[in-house]
Amino acid sequence: MEAHKTVTRSVDNLVHNNVDTGADRAIAEAAELIRNGEVVAFPTETVYGLGGDATSDEAIRRIFEAKGRPADNPLIVHVASIEDAARWTLTLPKTAKDLMAAFWPGPLTIVLPHNGTLSGAVTAGLPTVGLRMPDHPVALRLIEASGRPLAAPSGNRSGRPSPTEAAHVEEDLNGRIPMILDGGPAGVGLESTVVEVTDGQVTVLRPGGVTLEALREVAEHVAIDPSLLKSDEAPRSPGMKYTHYAPDVPLYLVEGELAALKQAIRKAKEDGLLTGAIIVNEWAGLTGAHQEVSVGSETDLAAVGRELYRALRQFKTGEVDMLLVCTFPETELGGAIMNRLEKASGGKKARL
Ligand code: TXA
Ligand code: MG
Repeated sequence: MEAHKTVTRSVDNLVHNNVDTGADRAIAEAAELIRNGEVVAFPTETVYGLGGDATSDEAIRRIFEAKGRPADNPLIVHVASIEDAARWTLTLPKTAKDLMAAFWPGPLTIVLPHNGTLSGAVTAGLPTVGLRMPDHPVALRLIEASGRPLAAPSGNRSGRPSPTEAAHVEEDLNGRIPMILDGGPAGVGLESTVVEVTDGQVTVLRPGGVTLEALREVAEHVAIDPSLLKSDEAPRSPGMKYTHYAPDVPLYLVEGELAALKQAIRKAKEDGLLTGAIIVNEWAGLTGAHQEVSVGSETDLAAVGRELYRALRQFKTGEVDMLLVCTFPETELGGAIMNRLEKASGGKKARL
């Protein structure tokens, strides 16, 4: 592992005003690092990514090493246009084009057969590649300025919650990468939806920022990978089998609402445990938990998605012994939120 002095450069003005020469300089420096086979953390609308040249074996090796990521888990390749995407695929089926037209730039990754011109390490030896055009001015400018497709997993240490702020990347990767572009908090806060497209059939491999309902408005045949519904099925998306999003403190799911949460907290207290609770605004001060972190109103799943990873990172070992969170309805963004909570908890349910 190479040691780095990690420099964080603000590009926040670009996000808000669309002109900022300081930000342009920072992006130019980041692009230079990318062209030299180095890796840079950058903001996207979903979560922060750790990007490197997807055509360079050396850059991809650095990404896997900085994250401590298992080598059989392929990376998403970020492009700045549909034409860019077509450079790396064998063919672009009509269904894929329809999805790109409807959701790009945006939180949708489309898995298609690749044409063998990217680094083999990006796709972990698979015949397919996941492609995405992010909806973020800094990400798009970085791709354009480097002139390279950007392989980028989320910019966390493997197994940890994904970073939704530059500070989260610093927490996980300080000293392991040369640069972080700080564009402020991510707007979606959950990763992209990953879909595979074969013969007009769209299969959701990872629920995310684009909902199932939205996909069904554009494509006729949309199904969910069976492994997402049944835990004994082997996942088609290699990344889905690993521990993910794990907070420092063990997380337990509570089936139900405030009353069930209060009961679980009472039980934990009887066992002498200090509890942390991830709650909706409406429950603030009512749970009896030692620490509460609110993720938004119960009527606003977009806010819950945006705040979830920050909340998971806030609870520290030594301050609380166990973490509790209630289940959310699985419609719209709730599907992705519950997928992440299932993983973060490892499926553990609170005793009621
Ligand atoms: O929103 C996002 O997607 C963020 C930002 C940075 O763009 N990136 C991200 O990357 O979440 P990562 O590496 O944390 O997750 C990529 C997921 C993994 O579950 C991986 O297994 C899956 O996409 N994936 C990538 N390429 C694939 C392929 N060819 N076939 C099946 N699954 C693939
Ligand atoms: Mg990730």
